[in-house]
Amino acid sequence: MCAMQKNTKPCYYGEYLYLDRFLDSQHPVSKQYQEKEAHDEMLFIIVHQAYELWFKQILHELNSILTDFDEPILSTNSYGRIIQRLTRINEIQKLLNQQIGILETMTPLDFLDFRDYLVPASGFQSIQFKEIEILLGLKMEYRINFDKKSFYNRLNDTDREHLIELEKSPSLFEQLESWLERMPFLEKENFSFLEAYQNAVNTMLDNDLSIVKNNDYLSDADQDFQIKDLEKTRRQFDALFDQETFNQLAKDGHFRMSQKSLLGAIFINLYRDEPAFQQPYQLIEKLIDIDEEFTQWRYRHTVMVHRMLGTKIGTGGSSGHDYLRQTTQNNRFFRDLFNISTFLIPRSSLPTLPPHITDAMGLKSE
Ligand code: HEM
Repeated sequence: MCAMQKNTKPCYYGEYLYLDRFLDSQHPVSKQYQEKEAHDEMLFIIVHQAYELWFKQILHELNSILTDFDEPILSTNSYGRIIQRLTRINEIQKLLNQQIGILETMTPLDFLDFRDYLVPASGFQSIQFKEIEILLGLKMEYRINFDKKSFYNRLNDTDREHLIELEKSPSLFEQLESWLERMPFLEKENFSFLEAYQNAVNTMLDNDLSIVKNNDYLSDADQDFQIKDLEKTRRQFDALFDQETFNQLAKDGHFRMSQKSLLGAIFINLYRDEPAFQQPYQLIEKLIDIDEEFTQWRYRHTVMVHRMLGTKIGTGGSSGHDYLRQTTQNNRFFRDLFNISTFLIPRSSLPTLPPHITDAMGLKSE
């Protein structure tokens, strides 16, 4: 690598940041239609522009993460970089969530001073937002029904073609799934994690059942209730252990990830105290943080829209608040990672890993 050069031309703050262009990019449309500019339109524009700038930074991080994650084997360095950049995205998201509060200092009546001039523009047309969604894994087939076509119909040809092309590239969700499927140690020599885990789960559930059955302090009705609850838990685990049941539930939308990758994620979660799994565990945690923060944004935006518009339809033609409420509930990226908690068992019931597995992980069991 050659040494870094010195700059030959003095750098000037405003030129470096292109402030002349940047600060000349706020043009309230109300000025064109009425004598006096609507005061709050400046805030509306600046808040949206601030969002778009941060979206650009998120995409910058996301694209580099996708490149790193594409490697068949991740080095400690790539793990470090991916986790650090996911953390950065997550910190930006926290800031983005707070910006809603700034916009809410504009009252619904202030908004009406210029809202009608914006038709048919809408957040639907934020290409960077849709790029982030698609690259994280929200491709067409996973969107709620109205959303599948709705925003595509409101884009110009160039933007639409660009997003449709982007749908073809691997998303973070897809990369996550194949990384988890490649997880070593699930099956090695005579050890099968699935078998060992299934035994541990059965022992745990049998114990729980005998505790309930032998508890003299429970009424018959309570006992019945708890036994039914345990049966339900057992059925959930059965779905995890049985490929066919799993496939059926996946078809009905209960799982999006493959059974193998879900097991890989569970394995990492269960043995996350082992040094070899600390980075993979942090990576999974960060993805959960990002999904959670995204959902928080959707929720805050939905509530803000309700406050601003009541039940009026959106400028983009959706049902407004109601449509956004549904996207908050359903347009998730890593729902499977949240559902892992269903399948965790206490550390005390965990199967001990045989020495050849811990040796293969380069670890010494305590
Ligand atoms: C007064 C403030 C706002 C109102 C009343 C509002 C209203 C709406 C409505 C009604 C929709 C649904 C689509 C439609 O029919 O138009 C929508 C979508 C959207 N808005 Fe806003 N919005 C506001 C501020 C913002 C801000 C500050 C951002 C930041 C970028 C934003 C980003 C989006 C995005 C990305 C969508 C598409 C969401 C999706 O399809 O899942 N909005 N907005």
